[in-house]
Amino acid sequence: MQPPLLLGALAVLLGVVGALDPALEEIWRGWKSFHGKQYPDEAEAFRRAVWEKNLRRIEHHNLEETLGKHGYRLEMNHFGDLTDEEFNQQLNGFLADAPERHGGKAALFHESAARETPKEVDWRAKGYVTPVKNQGHCGSCWAFSATGALEGLVFKKMGKLVSLSEQNLMDCSRRLGNSGCHGGYITRAFQYVRDNGGINSELVYPYLEKDVFSCHYNTQDKAANCTSFLLVPQGNETALEQAVGTVGPVSVAVDANNFAFHFYKSGVFASSQCSNIVNHAMLAVGYGPLEVPKSDSLTLTLSSRSWSEQWGEKGYIRLAKGVDNHCGVANQASYPVW
Ligand SMILES: *[C@@H]1O[C@H](CO)[C@@H](O)[C@H](O)[C@H]1NC(C)=O
Ligand SMILES: *[C@@H]1O[C@H](CO)[C@@H](O)[C@H](O)[C@H]1NC(C)=O
Repeated sequence: MQPPLLLGALAVLLGVVGALDPALEEIWRGWKSFHGKQYPDEAEAFRRAVWEKNLRRIEHHNLEETLGKHGYRLEMNHFGDLTDEEFNQQLNGFLADAPERHGGKAALFHESAARETPKEVDWRAKGYVTPVKNQGHCGSCWAFSATGALEGLVFKKMGKLVSLSEQNLMDCSRRLGNSGCHGGYITRAFQYVRDNGGINSELVYPYLEKDVFSCHYNTQDKAANCTSFLLVPQGNETALEQAVGTVGPVSVAVDANNFAFHFYKSGVFASSQCSNIVNHAMLAVGYGPLEVPKSDSLTLTLSSRSWSEQWGEKGYIRLAKGVDNHCGVANQASYPVW
């Protein structure tokens, strides 16, 4: 669903269309066909102009990367025809819960002295993580992050990996303040599963990429349990690492409202554009040096969960760790327990 071309955008359009580069025609067509993009005639020139602008910014970044200015590369992907504003509107959708919301009742993660935090961890290699999914044009990242943490929990307890239903969370947790494709809270998704006494699998309650205003949870097909959830102390990266190291995949949120994040392809992400005001829910699945080129880089591996394998390192990003709570990654971390 593309938003209608507004008057403001039209003005921009008139300004930029003249600048379309004929030399890029072939690449543009290839990109459209690869990603199955089709536009009504009146939108084509505007989308092409947006795409060209993104392409130039990506090339500029990568040139700087070869000169050693950045530790990560960008690449054109399926988001190439979106302006920064559209991207932020359509693909982020995490709402940050106020700490008071849980009335001081939500438990905090505490490192237990008995638990040794490993030097590096990759829960994907241990079978805890389902393949990367695709949220489409719907701000449902919060639901994808929550199912990711719940799937890890089920694997840990039952030894089986079951893909869980985001649509179940979207349709049935509105009462708690979640808004389906228009954003939601990870902790309230856990709260729903706890209060509801379960969640269905992806198989029985498939993802529809849209708001459905009725709940179709089927008690017979319960696929996971959740008895409560824990919050990682806000802003504490050390505690986040300990939680990921000793518990399993942990739900997190980051600031993804920046161009470099949208087109991240590979390497260790660290950008001065990243603030710690978080807006995109992800899943932390590991950390460590884990094959970084420079021995002094520490990374946290995050799954976009929902931006498809075409983004980043097959749907994952390695974020610089231990620097400055980069992109606010430790600000809203939580995980379910059972
Ligand atoms: C939920 O927990 C109960 C008791 O621990 C267990 O018997 C049941 O199999 C669990 N259900 C699922 C779907 O994991
Ligand atoms: C962060 O968490 C670690 C381990 O859980 C703890 O030792 C440390 O005191 C915390 N730091 C702050 C500033 O609260």
